Amino acid sequence: MARPRWPTTAAGRSPRHRAASRAGAPEHRLGPRCRAPHEERGATVQDQDHRWLRWPTEPARRRIAFGADYNPEQWPPHVWDDDVRAMRAAGLNIVSLGIFSWARIQPGADVWDFTWLDEVMDLLHANSIAVDLATGTASPPHWLTTKHPEILPVDHEGRTVWPGARQHWRPTSPVFREHALRLVRAMAERYGRHPALVAWHVSNEFGCHNAYDYSDAAAAAFRDWLRARYRSTAALNRAWTTAVWSQRYSDWAEILPPRWTGAGSQPNPAQRLDFLRFSSDALREHLRAERDLLRELTPEVPVTTNFMVAASVRAVDYARWAGEVDFVANDHYVVPGPQGLDELSFSANLTGNLAGGRPWFLMEHSTSAVSWQPINVAKRPGELARDSLTHVAHGADAVCFFQWRQSAGGAEKYHSAMVPHAGTDTAVFRAVCELGATLRDLARVAGAHRTPARAAILFDWESWWAAEQDPRPSDRVRYRQEALDWYTAFLDLGIRADVTPLDADWERYDLVVAPLLHMVPGGLAARLTVYAIAGGHVVTTYCSGIVDEHDHVWLGGYPGALCDLLGIRIEEFAPLLDDERAELDNGTTGTVWSDRIDLTDPATEVLARYRTGEQAGRPAVTRRPTGSGSAAYVSTRLGAGGVAAILDELAGRAGVTSELPPELRGAVELAVRGPHRFLINRTDRPVDVSAVAGAATILGPRAVIVVR
Ligand code: GLA
Ligand code: GLA
Repeated sequence: MARPRWPTTAAGRSPRHRAASRAGAPEHRLGPRCRAPHEERGATVQDQDHRWLRWPTEPARRRIAFGADYNPEQWPPHVWDDDVRAMRAAGLNIVSLGIFSWARIQPGADVWDFTWLDEVMDLLHANSIAVDLATGTASPPHWLTTKHPEILPVDHEGRTVWPGARQHWRPTSPVFREHALRLVRAMAERYGRHPALVAWHVSNEFGCHNAYDYSDAAAAAFRDWLRARYRSTAALNRAWTTAVWSQRYSDWAEILPPRWTGAGSQPNPAQRLDFLRFSSDALREHLRAERDLLRELTPEVPVTTNFMVAASVRAVDYARWAGEVDFVANDHYVVPGPQGLDELSFSANLTGNLAGGRPWFLMEHSTSAVSWQPINVAKRPGELARDSLTHVAHGADAVCFFQWRQSAGGAEKYHSAMVPHAGTDTAVFRAVCELGATLRDLARVAGAHRTPARAAILFDWESWWAAEQDPRPSDRVRYRQEALDWYTAFLDLGIRADVTPLDADWERYDLVVAPLLHMVPGGLAARLTVYAIAGGHVVTTYCSGIVDEHDHVWLGGYPGALCDLLGIRIEEFAPLLDDERAELDNGTTGTVWSDRIDLTDPATEVLARYRTGEQAGRPAVTRRPTGSGSAAYVSTRLGAGGVAAILDELAGRAGVTSELPPELRGAVELAVRGPHRFLINRTDRPVDVSAVAGAATILGPRAVIVVR
């Protein structure tokens, strides 16, 4: 391996660097260095410190990072000059480089080729484009998997996940770890002092394709994880209720990941739940291993990895990951449909709260269509900017895309990019350039924290996992969709709400909605009760309060842990068939679920009753005043429209009101970062926002403005 060419002193830099860099500038930081990672649930992300990009030039100047994944290895070198010219024209100031470059950088076990990457790093730096440099470990090269097939994941049926796509590595493989860290070391030693380097990008989208590995390596790591959690097999037997179906373990060595047990066989749910927890933690161990080596070799360079806080992605418990990185980064892709923009806003909002309200990095989204949905819809005019600025409204200080130049071949050749197949003389590229100019104008926003709302939706990965795994009263229950419906209802009412992890400090909100809070670990019911007595207002829904952290049912009737707080009791689940509807007397309609509710506290009020169906005449929505607060229960799936009807009343009684004038509620989303108020047009028509933004201000269809 050749020696790195970028020594610490400016005098020793290559002429190209000396010309390009404004050397000796201090780092641009938002806070001190990250403290030791929090190990346990309950350590809130608000406690974490934060380090932002180490900009190579003009450190004091605020700016919003604007860029893309850049994959120059897909193109001949003469294209690279065109690339940087067009990047400059569009106003890019950062790229993520080397994400899938392992095979190019290390074509053989002891063969290294950095020359092309040296050239690209220098070229970018000479053009004032910073680099978020990947460790390159996301996709192992063929020589490695040929020599060491034992790094390949195995699915629950025992099938090997073969090379041919990407991310074919076991998170728990010691052999993979060793080779990955060797690459990390080589990258850090070579580029750690390169003046273009502003952050490390560890691997890529952890768990996108390798979240669940059932191999022997995973089995060994799972046993270690369980031993640390339970200490004795007796405790594990209790937690997993192994008295059912003769599943008792007498030795750790007998334990396996939840492998294929045959069709319709109903495997142990507590075992599966622990496997989900373990799988998220196993990926996190790999993140920590790469990060710790980077911190040892280049302590001054911040480290991140791109999360996937997005519609269907649920393998990683990001509430337990946010404290591991110097700053939070996220990838988001819009799901087409009526709630597409709401879902984007929901994900951005949650990402901002995972970051503790501090700025975060939008690492990837798309300029237009993706190439992995069943039907890949192009974005309509205005959507590229609106989607980007909605992320900024929720705290993003970086707007980056997958990818810079649309691939001519390979798996992603139909995925949109900043420079499409049709070239730079295109609507997409013009929209990219306009966005670059807009973000330059918005530099004043950079660094501003999110301003908390007065209402929050609590989001919990473990309730998501537990509510949607077998056995369950109905497989129609959808955790994230229910949470999103409540979010849409808040937007429709014009009431700002934060989406926040359950671990966060949610007592500061006046109203907290915990949809489908299926898992209530010991202590949480008491915390909610204390909150309500002290004046907080809690809202929860069907299928909540049912199990503890071991997936054991809270006995005595449903909603189990929350019966006393809610002042209700339910003896049997009453899910609805697909064609069943339950009309409520407030004009809304329930689907998916209903409950036969008995009131156990005379103080519990009935806000709506069932008008039709099996529960006709019985309570559908209840509210129990307690202390100076309250606890409400919604027993059926109302959808966003039905939720809004109830939420209007619940928010009103909690004293939580819209910050928008009546004519803008629903049409415009308001998001606030310090003195900056973002108005996002949720509609396809112009909206007169004069009341908020000053005389005669019309917000165009799908447009966003920032006012003070
Ligand atoms: C079968 C089995 C029982 C029980 C029931 C549940 O009959 O023999 O052990 O699982 O199904 O319906
Ligand atoms: C993910 C990956 C990228 C790319 C995009 C396409 O986010 O990280 O490499 O495949 O999806 O949408």
